[in-house]
Amino acid sequence: MAPPTANSLETLVVRNAAQLVCVAGPEETVRRGAAMHAPLVIADGALVARGGRIAWVGSTTELPPVPPDAVVLDASGRAVLPGLVDSHTHLLFAGTREDEFEQRLAGATYQEIAARGGGINATVRRVRQASRDELKRLARRRLATLLAFGVTTVEVKSGYGLSLTDELKCLEAIAELNAEGPLELVPTFLGAHAVPPEFRDDRASYLRLLAAEMLPEVARRGLAEFCDVFCETGVFSVPESEAILRRALDLGLRPKIHADELTPLGGAELAAQLGAASADHLLCVTDAGVAALAASDTVATLLPGTAFFLGVPYAPARRLIDGGAVVALASDCNPGTCPTENLPLVGTMACTQMRMLPGEVVTALTLHAAAALGRADRLGSLAVGKQADLVILDVPDYRQLFYHFGASHAWRVVKRGRVVYEAGASPAP
Ligand code: NIG
Ligand code: FE
Repeated sequence: MAPPTANSLETLVVRNAAQLVCVAGPEETVRRGAAMHAPLVIADGALVARGGRIAWVGSTTELPPVPPDAVVLDASGRAVLPGLVDSHTHLLFAGTREDEFEQRLAGATYQEIAARGGGINATVRRVRQASRDELKRLARRRLATLLAFGVTTVEVKSGYGLSLTDELKCLEAIAELNAEGPLELVPTFLGAHAVPPEFRDDRASYLRLLAAEMLPEVARRGLAEFCDVFCETGVFSVPESEAILRRALDLGLRPKIHADELTPLGGAELAAQLGAASADHLLCVTDAGVAALAASDTVATLLPGTAFFLGVPYAPARRLIDGGAVVALASDCNPGTCPTENLPLVGTMACTQMRMLPGEVVTALTLHAAAALGRADRLGSLAVGKQADLVILDVPDYRQLFYHFGASHAWRVVKRGRVVYEAGASPAP
């Protein structure tokens, strides 16, 4: 596959867009509160990208002369958005868990299934058996599906290896997939996803292994930007999570937390206190957690697909947004609690189940998701100087992305100024 970076002279022009959904101006890296529901939109918009970066945005009537060798896309009757950013996934895995899906439908809880050796550790068994090439092959298909939904950047967590060798295998697979393109992958080390079976009766030793061997080796090899912890009753406590994340910070990895997902443990408060890039899930966040996030720069990343699939109440999106927190949305694509790549459908769930407005959802899937990955200065809005990552929809109004739910509306996807997906074209072999 061709490298996705445009050379410095390559020019891409998009014109006649029914809506150019810029989301935000060049200086804005977040849009809190009421600003979140009114993304910046230019009617009959146009955009010029040069060398992979946005060089001009405005209305088509004011478009500067187009160089003869430019690639020109006519977006008549179409809405143009920043490429979607999926800021929380576990998409590197082997095996499936439809057996657990059925057990939950019959009344078992996620925690009960995990306690009897299923859950995360069921996938750990499969991932340990799989080669790096096999994991890459499986993940490539999921990445292709994400791309077809308009996603141009995706965070991918390790956390199904849970030994030094297997975590490195997973992170190396993520690095290689990133190098392949066209999607940009952001690697997160999630060695603290569960206590693996061999340490079941000696969790202290696993915590020592994480701090003394796994984290330093991951940092030394530059294989992760973020370190995440599943801070949850029966998994990692708040003090354990804090110790892991402080060690990660010392080694140059930014914290993220699976916070208050199944029980209200205080992960949101810990995330704010540590200056974490994001606190994710938050289904059970308390008022104190909402207040702590609202007063911080930590992004509250909501994953309604998980609540939908587990059949449990959703995160309090309205309280978080109205309270002033920076709210993002992500898929949580994983084999246990949310086996989907359909990020726009997650946006529909945010609308109908959490009462988010379509404009808030767009901001959450672009600018704020980029902020959750420390990339809001480069990604997540259509502004001069930013990377030219775009999705052109086959519908004229961005609200249709969530209104006509379950479908893929991406007509073209552009990464770093180059068209990397065309609807209807046969996928790369
Ligand atoms: O985000 N909460 C922890 N991790 C995943 C579930 C992983 C799994 O069950 O395999 C989540 O829900
Ligand atoms: Fe998750």
